[in-house]
Amino acid sequence: MIAAVVPAAGSGRRMAAGKNKVLLPLAGRTVIELTVDRLLASRLFGRVVVVAGAAEVAEMSRLLAGFSTQAEVAVVAGGAERQWSVACGLAAIGREWEYIAVHDAARPLVSRQALAAVVADARQYGAAVLAAPVRDTIKQDDGTGFVAATLERCSLWAVQTPQVFRADWLREAHRRAGEDGVVVTDDAALVERLGHKVRITVNPDDNLKLTTPVDWQLAEILAREELTGGTR
Ligand code: C5P
Repeated sequence: MIAAVVPAAGSGRRMAAGKNKVLLPLAGRTVIELTVDRLLASRLFGRVVVVAGAAEVAEMSRLLAGFSTQAEVAVVAGGAERQWSVACGLAAIGREWEYIAVHDAARPLVSRQALAAVVADARQYGAAVLAAPVRDTIKQDDGTGFVAATLERCSLWAVQTPQVFRADWLREAHRRAGEDGVVVTDDAALVERLGHKVRITVNPDDNLKLTTPVDWQLAEILAREELTGGTR
């Protein structure tokens, strides 16, 4: 089994409610409960550290208390940037764990097969990220509102979470980013900076990230389909 850091300290600025989106209900439970449940149901994770905003640690601890019979589940306070929240989570994971996954709390519907695949790839290659081929053609601008280049779609990937790493690589990557003042939204980018190769694990399943109110409506449909169909 491996450990997981679940960043959940976002403010939900892009949601209408203005509340942390992972504390909102989806198909009858909060998103953070669904996400932790999904990780634990895979039986791949022995320790899950959820990173909450300082003001939400107590509420999330209460919501997640019931899961502690299945694995070690802890809630710790995060930081103002996602990267700093992940670093806070890493600090709460003991040295006995060889691999660590980072999984956004805002992706509650990741499939069991995708979880197994990305963990297996990380064990083989040291680092792996779930990803899907991009559907849109991506263009780069020239900074003045005109197209500078059209990128080759067949080599582009929309990267998701979980991202799974050798624990020593991930810790070193965060330490070095802190020293160098680098702040990004993707842990793999920090590991890439160290020169390690990161495997792309193709995810054929939906792995919706809850960002806008429309995502929410779609997630509600998918989650209810799963509840009735049990497809994942
Ligand atoms: O804002 P965004 O959806 O990109 O955030 C991705 C994940 O990172 C979310 O689950 C959010 O709760 C988490 N996050 C965090 N600490 C921050 C900002 C975001 O844990 N300071």
